[in-house]
Amino acid sequence: MMILPIYIYGHPVLRKVALDIDAANYPKLKELIDNMFETMYHADGVGLAAPQVGLTDRIFVVDLAPLANEEHPEFKNFKKVFINAHITERSGETELVEEGCLSIPGIHEKVPREGEVTIAYLDEDLQPKEEHYSGFMARVIQHEYDHLDGILFTDRISPLRKRMVKSKLAAMEKGKVACDYKIRTAR
Ligand code: NI
Repeated sequence: MMILPIYIYGHPVLRKVALDIDAANYPKLKELIDNMFETMYHADGVGLAAPQVGLTDRIFVVDLAPLANEEHPEFKNFKKVFINAHITERSGETELVEEGCLSIPGIHEKVPREGEVTIAYLDEDLQPKEEHYSGFMARVIQHEYDHLDGILFTDRISPLRKRMVKSKLAAMEKGKVACDYKIRTAR
């Protein structure tokens, strides 16, 4: 397995809309997925989308095991691959919860997201699935799914908070960023 560089805020690939793949004929799909998990674990993340490793493919991976606790034992077995992901329904009350992103190191902000989501996708065996999620799982899925549409969590924060993080984001765009995993900046 290989640890891939994580693309940082400001890199144009993070703003592209990712496209469905021909999963059955995609070269080394298994290897890519393994590398995405490895890259995510190495950076202590719980989700990673293909644009974050420079690919405009509609793929993301999630593993909530590091967040499993007595309140949320179900996170322990929540390791999933979402290929050709499409959200088919969003519902429930909007909740405001703090998020971070491996492509935006050092910034954590409260992000409004709908409480429930239904998503259609192919799993790692290329089997079609359609599943409904709520709570934190729905949030992580919406965050990763946003990456496939070129949307970052900082796009969704309040105007006031946007102003507060503006200079940090501008620095990232210029390649001024410090973190302890392998990255690729726009400059
Ligand atoms: Ni992210």
